[in-house]
Amino acid sequence: KTVAVIMMGGPTKGTRFRPLSFNVAKPLFPLAGQPMVHHPILACKKILDLAQVFLIGFYEEKEFSLYISALSNDLKVPVRYLREDKPHGSAGGLYNFQDLLLEDDPTDIVVLNCDVCCSFPLTKMLEAHRNHGGIGTLLVKKVSKEVASEYGELVADPKTGELLHYAEKPETFVSDFINCGVYIFTPEIFKAIGDVTSTSLSHTTSFELRPTPTNNRLMQADFMRLDQDILTPLAGKKKLYTFETNDFWEQIKTPGMSLRCSSLYLAQYRATQPELLTSGEGQKSPTIIGDVFIHRSAKVHPTAKLGPNVSISANARIGPGVRLVGCIILDDVEIKENAVVMNSIVGWKSSLGKWARVQGGGDYNSKLGITILGEDVAVEDEVVVVNCIVLPHKTLNISVHDEIIL
Ligand code: GDD
Repeated sequence: KTVAVIMMGGPTKGTRFRPLSFNVAKPLFPLAGQPMVHHPILACKKILDLAQVFLIGFYEEKEFSLYISALSNDLKVPVRYLREDKPHGSAGGLYNFQDLLLEDDPTDIVVLNCDVCCSFPLTKMLEAHRNHGGIGTLLVKKVSKEVASEYGELVADPKTGELLHYAEKPETFVSDFINCGVYIFTPEIFKAIGDVTSTSLSHTTSFELRPTPTNNRLMQADFMRLDQDILTPLAGKKKLYTFETNDFWEQIKTPGMSLRCSSLYLAQYRATQPELLTSGEGQKSPTIIGDVFIHRSAKVHPTAKLGPNVSISANARIGPGVRLVGCIILDDVEIKENAVVMNSIVGWKSSLGKWARVQGGGDYNSKLGITILGEDVAVEDEVVVVNCIVLPHKTLNISVHDEIIL
C-alpha cells in the first residue's frame, strides 16, 4: 500500500502570498479553478494502491473541513488533516505523526510540498523507487544556473541516480539540478530521521536539548527540515536516489507565480482533461482564445472575449464587451461592460466599472509585475490600474500605476 502526505505549512509561512492569503489558506487558493492542493491530490489518486491521503499543517482545522469533506466523497480514499500545534519543520511534522502515517502498514509514503506546481509523475517515480531499493527518491529538475540557488541543489550519480551531495539554497554554486519538493520514502525514513537527530543531539552540549526517556520523540522532532537536516547527511550513503523530470515545474511562493501556475495547469487540462476547458462553441458562448476555465455558476456575456489563460471562479459576472487575458477572476466578482483585465488577479467580491482597465506587465517574478486586487475592491468607471497591489476593501476612483495601495 501507498499513503500520500501533503505538507501544507501554516499561516505564518504564507506571508509572501499576501494579500490573497488574508482570505483563504494559501493551499486553497484556486489555480485553474481548483484549490492549489487539489492538483497534487488528483495526482495521488492515480496511484493504484493508494490507501489514505494526509494533509499536515499548522493552519486551524476548520479552514479545511469543508474542502476535505467534499474531497473524501469524490476521491473514495480517506483524506485526513493532521494539525501540528506549531511549526515543526517539514521533517518534524512527518516524524511526529509517524504512528498515524504507518497505520495502514504502507510500503511507500509519497510526500509532496503543497506549493509546487508540476505534472507529479508519481507512478513512474514509484516504479523507479521500488527498483533501486533505497529508502527515498527525490524528484529533481535541471534549471538555469542563475535561479538554482533559490532551491536545494544536488549532485547525483549519472548512472545509478544515487544522491551524492545535497546543499539547501547554497551561497556558492553547487549544481543546476534542484530538489522539486516531491518525494517517495519507505517507512525506514523515520528511523533515519531519528538517527540523524540523535547524532546531532549527542554533539550538543546543551543539557536541555537532550531527550529524556519519557518525552524522547517529542524532544527530538521539535524542529527539523527534510532538506538540510535529513537529505544532506543521508546523501552519498546509497540510501537516496533521484528521478529527473523534464516536464513543467514551478514553486508557488508569490501571487505572481500563482498566475503563472494557473496557466500551466490550464495547459495540462488541455492534454489530460479537456472537458474542464471552455470550448467556445454554441451561440451563447463568449469568444474563447486558448485555455479558459469558467466555473459553471459564473455568468459571461456572449459578446465578451476571453483568453488565453483565463480562469473564472464561482458566481462571477462578466459583462458585454469585456476583454480578459491572463487572469484569475475570483468568486463573486462583477466586471461591467467594456472593462479590460490583463495579467491580473481580481479578488473575491471586487467590482470593475464600465471601461475600467486593470493590468500588469506580466513579469511574474517581480513584486509589481502583475496587478492584484484584494477582496472587495471597487474600481470605478474608466479608472486604469497598472502594476499595483491593492489591499482589501479599497475604492479606486482615480487611475494608479506601480503602487501598493494600503
Ligand atoms: N506541516 C508543515 N509544518 N509543513 C511545513 C512546515 C512545518 O513546520 N514547514 C514547511 N512546511 C511545508 C511548506 O508548506 C512547503 O510545502 C514545504 O513544507 C517546504 O517548505 P519550506 O521548508 O519552507 O522550504 P522551501 O519551500 O523554501 O524549499 C523546499 O522546497 C523546494 C521545492 O519547492 C526545499 O526542500 C527546497 O530544496 C526545494 O527546492
